[in-house]
Amino acid sequence: MDKFIIKDILSVDSNLSIKECRVIAGNHDVALGVLDENRELYSFVLCDSLDKMIAFGFENKPVSLIALPSKIYSIEAVENSSEHSFFVYDGEEYKLFIRSVISTPYINLLHRYEQILPSSVKNALSLCSKAADEINMPVYLIGGVVRDLIMGKASVDTDISVEENAVEFASFMKKKYGELVDIKEIHEDFKTVKMIFHTGAEDVQIDIASTREETYSYPSALPSVKNIGCSLEADVIRRDFSINAMAVSLNKPTFGDLIDYLGGYEDMKNHCLKILHPLSFIDDPSRILRGLKFSARFDYANDERTEYLERECLESGIFDNLATDRIKLELRQALNLNMADVYDRFLSEGIYRLVSTDFDVSNLPEGKVIFENIEKYGAYLEDREHIWLIYLGVMCASLEKEQILELSKKMNLSGVELKVLLYTNSIVKHEEEISKFETMFEVYEFFECYFNESVAAAVSLFKNNRAREFADVYLNKLQFITINTTGRDLIARNMTPSPLFGEILRDILKEKINGNIKTPEEESIFVDKVLGKR
Ligand code: CTP
Repeated sequence: MDKFIIKDILSVDSNLSIKECRVIAGNHDVALGVLDENRELYSFVLCDSLDKMIAFGFENKPVSLIALPSKIYSIEAVENSSEHSFFVYDGEEYKLFIRSVISTPYINLLHRYEQILPSSVKNALSLCSKAADEINMPVYLIGGVVRDLIMGKASVDTDISVEENAVEFASFMKKKYGELVDIKEIHEDFKTVKMIFHTGAEDVQIDIASTREETYSYPSALPSVKNIGCSLEADVIRRDFSINAMAVSLNKPTFGDLIDYLGGYEDMKNHCLKILHPLSFIDDPSRILRGLKFSARFDYANDERTEYLERECLESGIFDNLATDRIKLELRQALNLNMADVYDRFLSEGIYRLVSTDFDVSNLPEGKVIFENIEKYGAYLEDREHIWLIYLGVMCASLEKEQILELSKKMNLSGVELKVLLYTNSIVKHEEEISKFETMFEVYEFFECYFNESVAAAVSLFKNNRAREFADVYLNKLQFITINTTGRDLIARNMTPSPLFGEILRDILKEKINGNIKTPEEESIFVDKVLGKR
């Protein structure tokens, strides 16, 4: 039988501010029931959420920003409910029911573990298990690796958590296993350790975290850590989505047992992304981009509440132009998936506002157009990891140079990343000039100064067919044209090395690109002519 916390309700209008709602709640142990425009009970908010928002300085924002839309059940229908929280009407008044324990089926993932994880990882994990068992320390696989195991995939990273101090656990392992393991990095603030295991054909890195609670001193800050070594249950609630908040026991008696306090397994079955508390996006707005990334990667959709809170958060404008390092990290991962839909949703759902509200959203090409150009010119990119810059370059094309520089400073872009954006911007501003080029060498001379990423981004924006064709011919052909003549050939003609060499070689290239020279012999005749003239 599920257990519930039951709260009385005080009704408030959705346009009231957080501060006004806090005054109404006073010292009563109640939930505030937020009414919709028809004055029907629609969503609820608890006092601790109001207090956190006030501490963040958001006291004047509307309460709807953090209120959770909820269904209404009759008393008789409660046992059919599956939601974490909902209203119950007993014929006279409404109450809020919050499930205190979510009952989940017993699942053991040993079979998946054996089948899916590479043996080098299993060897490393078995050392962790043995060491933890010896000192009676609970140890778990945690987060993405568990999610991937359930999906039947091996993760790139292997994360484990101990219900203790991970730094002490790592030192204990180093003492116990000596040469077999190395501590690569220690993060004292978060009490996490990167450890290398030399237990198989190749070295394996395992990231070991201490269970911990986290608080945010201001929205989107790096969290401050408290209660190192807290219970796993207290640890998982700080995480982003229920699908990333599951653990698998690595201790001998319970090896392979899935620990799923927040219903992640069920959410995976329903292809559903669910945040774990109403302030999740306020604490860390980069989670909106993580949601976009995971939903595209796994073909999942936000659950209703997550969708609602994301929309409220974006529409409130509190994180407009945030563009922090973490936003950059998640934006890069999301756009590097190279899925047209990710870019389209980034724009249509207003997620772009986290990066810049200056993008001229109504004039941007569809993701499909950019995707097709990346497919077409992908082989010519300096680095596939730059794909996100093509999408971002397209969005930045309407900005002024100063705005791009400002964005780059905020997101901490590297020199190359900034150049891709600036170059795209510059190419697009020259579209008309490009369309009027008369020779292929003019086309070549123009585009050779830019990265191919920027040219590919600009093609997606060009409206002029001639400009588009010139960019295409540059990417596919002109950039690869070379000549046979070298400085040595000129020395063989009794010339002394000088800047003239460069000029002659460039002239040969020009003639070749313009189609006036085709063979090495023709190059030689051309050199004869030039030297004769000089
Ligand atoms: N996490 C979080 N909030 C974030 C980032 C991470 O709660 N803003 C938590 C999640 O529990 C996540 C774990 O930290 O599972 C590890 O994060 P990360 O390595 O970024 O993602 P994974 O879930 O491992 O997914 P993947 O590496 O496959 O993208």
